[in-house]
Amino acid sequence: MDSGNLKPKLYCSVSIQNESIIAIRDDEEFIIEPLPFKHDLVLKILHSFNGMHTIKELANEYHIQDTNYEKLIELVDSLSEFGLILKNQQVNFVSGIECLLEIEDLQNKLLYETLYKNIFWTKCQEPKEIPFNVFIGLAIENYHFLFRESWFDAPILSWQGSQDARTLMNAFFCEEHGHDALILKSLNAVGITKEELFKTVPLPETLALCHVLAYWAANDPLFFYTTIGILEGKDIKLDSYVHAMENSGTVPDEFIYYIKEHSMINLNAEHGNLGREVFKNIPAVSRVDVDRLKAQTHIFIDIYNKFYLSVWQHYSTCEQLLRQIK
Ligand SMILES: [Fe+2]
Ligand SMILES: [Fe+2]
Repeated sequence: MDSGNLKPKLYCSVSIQNESIIAIRDDEEFIIEPLPFKHDLVLKILHSFNGMHTIKELANEYHIQDTNYEKLIELVDSLSEFGLILKNQQVNFVSGIECLLEIEDLQNKLLYETLYKNIFWTKCQEPKEIPFNVFIGLAIENYHFLFRESWFDAPILSWQGSQDARTLMNAFFCEEHGHDALILKSLNAVGITKEELFKTVPLPETLALCHVLAYWAANDPLFFYTTIGILEGKDIKLDSYVHAMENSGTVPDEFIYYIKEHSMINLNAEHGNLGREVFKNIPAVSRVDVDRLKAQTHIFIDIYNKFYLSVWQHYSTCEQLLRQIK
């Protein structure tokens, strides 16, 4: 559909504060910038988004043409991405899988803009430049993460939205059980024991990821389901981390062995596909929900990116591998 024929509807309240346009949706506050036109004109246009008029009609009314018209379409697109505008009231629902594919498009865009460019993943292309402690450090943080996996997998098990989705998630929960022990075997191979790990604390970014997933699993199950594909490695053949360790020349085979085993379980059991299987069993998702999920995707990818960044920042410079509680 030509974007100009959409009938956008504002899904937040907007006002001018200190020369900025502030949008408030539920408890979240956004600053809309940069503005394509003067504040008062943007505000008038936003208030005209009531789901009754097409963008073309509004552009005519406010004499917006040519490049300014394109800027107006871009404004609607970006506000829609953050769930501040409902683009088209004629389509109120999409199927579960359509919803997920829309989210995956956004995830991929954000991953290419951030995670795939961050120092950890770019250095995986040059494994000999990765400090040994970074390889071990990621395993330590992964161990902490998997040790806490029930925090975020358990709250979702009783979800009532779809019986088939619930069955899939329960089977996944059983398959995931004990994966922290696999990583522990790798750590044992370089002399790190369970008792020592018990006296350590994860990096704040690792805990942040655990906490935010636990929050979403308990409070926004639909959104939690959108994160599984990324966490379990959808669209990948073999984990680049494993590949980098194999080509590093520094990491012992016994260490790589169990981490690779974990990666192969994800691959062979098609855990990366679980999110898509779940969404195939969700018949309909409202446009309001899709827009909310898209808005939260920005937060999730940011936190996920910071997890890997912090592993690099801490373990590439630390003297002590274990962050022990003194
Ligand atoms: Fe796992
Ligand atoms: Fe898995």
